Amino acid sequence: MIPSPLQAVFRILRLGGPALLFLVAAMGLAHGQTAPAHADYQRARYDPIHFKPAIDKATNTQCLACHAEVLEASVRNESTAGAKASQSKAWYQQVSTYQGEQDTFHRRHMSTAYAKQVMNLQCNTCHQGNDPRDEATGTSASNQNHRLTLRKMASAETTCLMCHGTMNSEIMGLPEPWPKSKVTFQNNCLLCHAGIRTNRHNVNYLNAAEIEKAGSKNADVCYGCHGARPWYRISFPFARNKWEGMAPDVPDWAKNRPTTSEPRFLSSTHLQGTAK
Ligand code: HEC
Ligand code: HEC
Ligand code: HEC
Ligand code: HEC
Ligand code: HEC
Repeated sequence: MIPSPLQAVFRILRLGGPALLFLVAAMGLAHGQTAPAHADYQRARYDPIHFKPAIDKATNTQCLACHAEVLEASVRNESTAGAKASQSKAWYQQVSTYQGEQDTFHRRHMSTAYAKQVMNLQCNTCHQGNDPRDEATGTSASNQNHRLTLRKMASAETTCLMCHGTMNSEIMGLPEPWPKSKVTFQNNCLLCHAGIRTNRHNVNYLNAAEIEKAGSKNADVCYGCHGARPWYRISFPFARNKWEGMAPDVPDWAKNRPTTSEPRFLSSTHLQGTAK
């Protein structure tokens, strides 16, 4: 903690000369520790790395130089009311792939064993830059380039929805939503997807081969990202990448769909940093 100037003055008045010397030394130390590459907090906060274009090239290592706490394990064992973390499982944690103790949001996406197995998320996969001075998108010339919900730092629409939408069972021709119809399909997505939309997951934030391996043993791997943790009541309009054996006719629902994954997810610059 860096004491505020007012607190410092009070302390000096109470304790006299020797404390002044100590205080000056301590403040210097605290500064040195919190912002390694920078003189002060404000400069670090407005470091160009937070904004476009620099954020697009930033590595995890660069971000973590100042934000190491983001990937530190920091979940309480018990809530202040006494509920034990180990006995509190939320509905979205009932998916069979959920393993281990309660963990933080960032660690569940970047550093747990399961996250590292199926994903390769980088800080800038989700953080595309936001303006801490003006947290409403589109109100000024410098705050136009992303679709953020008010006061949010990542886009639900373009990022979270990809893995947290509902399963589009209508276009798949399923008679009922997956939880009810899965028995009919031997609880196996690959019954159909061994031949349909097989050119999938070739993006820099997913481990495509590992996903296929794990998904062939347990459909919850697939369903986990395609309906089991739906924060939204809509499904993501996935790009329809051309696959081998694809029919030339485009179904009506797919007429406005892109035919390649989003370009920023195809570049390898996002692969420079590696999650801890
Ligand atoms: C030089 C140090 C430094 C670096 C490097 C850095 N940050 Fe920050 N960042 C800060 C400081 C200081 C703040 C303000 C923290 C606060 O108010 O709690 C901040 C705030 C943030 C916030 C919250 C913004 C808000 O609207 O309140 C996010 C998100 C963030 N940084 C992400 C990143 C990402 C992603 C990277 C890498 C691309 C990064 N930071 C690199 C120092 C840094
Ligand atoms: C899966 C997407 C995702 C990834 C990957 C991600 N973040 Fe975040 N981050 C978020 C979300 C969502 C929030 C909450 C922000 C909000 O309320 O809008 C957040 C919040 C933050 C904050 C604000 C303080 C806090 O803890 O709430 C900082 C700083 C931050 N992230 C830094 C990072 C850094 C550094 C990395 C890479 C090591 C990273 N993030 C990776 C989605 C992500
Ligand atoms: C590439 C896919 C992917 C993206 C993008 C993604 N998530 Fe997730 N998310 C997952 C997976 C997989 C899990 C389950 C992790 C587990 O079970 O260990 C998860 C779990 C969660 C959890 C529950 C964590 C817990 O402790 O159980 C929350 C909350 C969450 N995501 C929110 C978000 C938000 C908000 C965003 C956008 C900023 C986002 N996710 C983006 C794949 C993703
Ligand atoms: C009965 C066969 C069948 C089963 C079982 C099935 N799907 Fe599909 N799925 C389809 C068809 C058909 C399409 C649309 C193909 C096209 O683009 O023409 C599709 C499309 C998709 C898409 C792309 C959706 C979009 O909007 O572009 C995803 C993602 C998907 N399936 C995931 C899954 C997952 C995950 C499972 C298992 C939990 C599953 N599917 C089970 C037949 C099936
Ligand atoms: C970690 C999260 C995650 C897992 C696990 C996962 N998917 Fe996906 N899936 C995604 C994302 C994100 C996309 C969109 C990628 C893109 O933009 O190309 C996607 C795209 C797809 C598509 C559309 C492909 C296209 O480009 O036309 C299909 C079909 C699909 N997934 C089926 C599956 C099946 C089957 C499994 C299990 C073997 C599975 N998914 C497991 C996150 C996941």
